Amino acid sequence: MVQTAMGAYGVSVEGGPVYSWIDDPVARAAAPGLRGRSLLSDLDLSRAEVDALVETALWLKIQRERAQPHPYLAGKTLGMLFQHPSTRTRNAFQAGMEQLGGHATFLGAHELQLTRGETLPDTARILSRYVDGIAARFGAHDDLIVFMGGAAVPVFNALTERFHPIEALSDLLTLHDQFGGLKGLALAYVGDGNNVCHSLMLGGAAAGMRVAIASPPEFEPDHTLVERARELAAQAGGSIVVTNDPMHAVSGANAVYTDVHESMGQPDDPGKRFALAPYKVTATLMAHALPDAVFMHCLPMQRDMEVEAAVADGPQSIVFEQAANRLHMHKAVLLLTLG
Ligand code: CP
Ligand code: NVA
Repeated sequence: MVQTAMGAYGVSVEGGPVYSWIDDPVARAAAPGLRGRSLLSDLDLSRAEVDALVETALWLKIQRERAQPHPYLAGKTLGMLFQHPSTRTRNAFQAGMEQLGGHATFLGAHELQLTRGETLPDTARILSRYVDGIAARFGAHDDLIVFMGGAAVPVFNALTERFHPIEALSDLLTLHDQFGGLKGLALAYVGDGNNVCHSLMLGGAAAGMRVAIASPPEFEPDHTLVERARELAAQAGGSIVVTNDPMHAVSGANAVYTDVHESMGQPDDPGKRFALAPYKVTATLMAHALPDAVFMHCLPMQRDMEVEAAVADGPQSIVFEQAANRLHMHKAVLLLTLG
């Protein structure tokens, strides 16, 4: 039986009366303080803060369905500094800012003086004079940390090689939408132990989920992060299993998740492709999950590489609902940090 991890502030997701801590000054005063905070990795958030973000995103989603305008960020500007391409993250930030009454400005890293040697901290110092928050997508996570060293406004990790925290938060929202709660849910991640895997593992652990990861031995998630996730899971009543056997990971799962076998910025590696080939999510593998299990992918996906097209486009796939939820989670992050 899945128990809800949410509900502390009483949001209705069934279309009944909506009551939110945002509307309630007493509850708002008791809500966790994310204002002015950066989000560099999943480790920056407490369990209560993850709950508040998911619940706020659910509330914003309902408000959007009801076409309720919420200009909470009027007069605020978000800078978006991207070293790699993006369809979902960039546009969810952009649309999210605008729907909250603010503005977003895109800063392609190749268009800045970074290309002529201006340092990351100097760039952050300057941008902080113009904008109220910065979403940054870097290859190296250390670059994000160095950039953050010069920033005087909140910085949001829009993906690095090590973490993709807002993706994971948004995926928790999708799982909550799908199953009515998070605690006790079984999530199987099959494939490369990469940035998305790290963030999902940490986020799922903090939410008390049972997370099982199947990867080839040489592409397992970072062992330090696995240990940290195990500590978080122990506190929240969940568990973390790392295995090399996809069927073991998927057995009894509510959700099966995969990601590309070759992430952005990584060199072409035939050896890696070969090692990951048996970790493709197929209809046969899905049959080992629970009958009502869903298939998830952060996107973009390569059909018939990490997932069979029949699964990606089949009835169990919720990948496009998952992508749609990015908007609501990005808005929640922006609202609670910049609002
Ligand atoms: N999932 C995700 O982050 O997609 P983008 O690279 O398009 O932002
Ligand atoms: N692991 C992928 C995620 C893309 C959203 C990458 O880093 O390219």
